[in-house]
Amino acid sequence: MVSVGMAGYLPSIRGDDSIPSFILRMTKGQYQLVPEEYGKTDVWYFNNQIPGPQIRVKQGESFRVLVENRLDQSTTVHWHGLRVKNTMDGVPYLTQDPIEPGQTFLYELEAPDAGTFWYHPHQRSFEQVGRGLYGSLVVEERQAIDIDRELTWVLDDWRLTANAQLTGDYSGNRHDMSHAGRIGNTVTINGEIPDRFHLRRGERIRIRLINAANARIMALVFEDHEPKIISIDGQPVTPHLPKNRQYILAPGMRMDLQMDCTGRPGEKYALQDHYYPNQQYRLLDLVYDEKAVRDEILQDDIVLPGNPMPEPNLDESIQFEIDLAGGARGDMQGANFQGKWTDLRELVRQGKAWSINGVASHGHVMEPVIVVERNTSCILNIRNNTAWPHPMHLHGHSFRVLSQNDTAVLHHPWQDTVLIESGATSKIAFVADNPGDWMFHCHILEHQAAGMMAVIRVV
Ligand code: C2O
Ligand code: CU
Repeated sequence: MVSVGMAGYLPSIRGDDSIPSFILRMTKGQYQLVPEEYGKTDVWYFNNQIPGPQIRVKQGESFRVLVENRLDQSTTVHWHGLRVKNTMDGVPYLTQDPIEPGQTFLYELEAPDAGTFWYHPHQRSFEQVGRGLYGSLVVEERQAIDIDRELTWVLDDWRLTANAQLTGDYSGNRHDMSHAGRIGNTVTINGEIPDRFHLRRGERIRIRLINAANARIMALVFEDHEPKIISIDGQPVTPHLPKNRQYILAPGMRMDLQMDCTGRPGEKYALQDHYYPNQQYRLLDLVYDEKAVRDEILQDDIVLPGNPMPEPNLDESIQFEIDLAGGARGDMQGANFQGKWTDLRELVRQGKAWSINGVASHGHVMEPVIVVERNTSCILNIRNNTAWPHPMHLHGHSFRVLSQNDTAVLHHPWQDTVLIESGATSKIAFVADNPGDWMFHCHILEHQAAGMMAVIRVV
């Protein structure tokens, strides 16, 4: 019986200039992901931990992370959701040279927004993230939030063999690339298979959820509990309950929950994932200890202070159409690939299956799909013309999700990743205030590798 463990926390090293500094070392090793009798799993990880250690800084703070590559392939680290300078965004060849084996790179970062973020490689992400390289990055609010307990759950999904080894089919698995991505068979929270999570009646917990899986989308369902969503993708939102009480987290996404423990002492309640209709499973049980924290459940919701986001001017914006095409059961005939029209059969031979506005990406460097002047308000009308859902992620900015399928989205939340279901549309808006070339891609990492990647240039 395992209870959900704590993610390790990385203390900073403060030099004379008092800028908090962290060291992340990427190595190969073995980790106890599954119960001991199955043995350890060969993984790649940060600082010998899965997830990598949590980096915590305060809003407005500058900080540094020295990344040391002790893998035998090149890498970079991307600070997912953090609005960083382009040169620190960690995209190989586009914003920096990859960090070669044996080399280091110093990331000099800032944290304009308080919230829940994460870090992961951006080189061969489908393999490097898939083998265990990821960790959480928490930016604390300037003023402490009144809460009994705060925790981070980094969720992942692994494809393991019977002796707990990762199947090695990272590249060249055409089925994964052209279908739902590398869906695994073992879901972990903070690097272990949880069985139970202990709580006490009356307690108020802030749970920071992060979906670090390559491909698995989750729709969490809490039995008899109604935690409010207080933040999405690191950006505060009016506390609310999701539609159908399903907390949907696609790869790359985060959600902070205000969990008021309304259960009865001694009882247990299931937490399940219902996203894929034929594959519902129980993630863990919420187990109540005998002793209550307080008898009355707290009533007033936590309202997180807003972040300094530039508000898009919808009346004076430029609209762009973005079309997602390809994949199995799609009708894409071909796409522009490496500068020339390529039919589907040849694309597949090249390991590609998807396109954005008719272009299948090859690596991270490409002609931008959008070029805008700095401080332009942009609206993207994204249309998913495929038979598969795609969580689309934009670097360097957060955007408001205005509508899905022409229906307004409650509270127009700020997000950096938006899930667009098969056949659906999504309208998002943001101010392009951060100069540079920014990736816009699907966060199902097999789709990203198979062509579903574009660049938005802010000049
Ligand atoms: Cu979390 Cu471009 O990635
Ligand atoms: Cu996708």
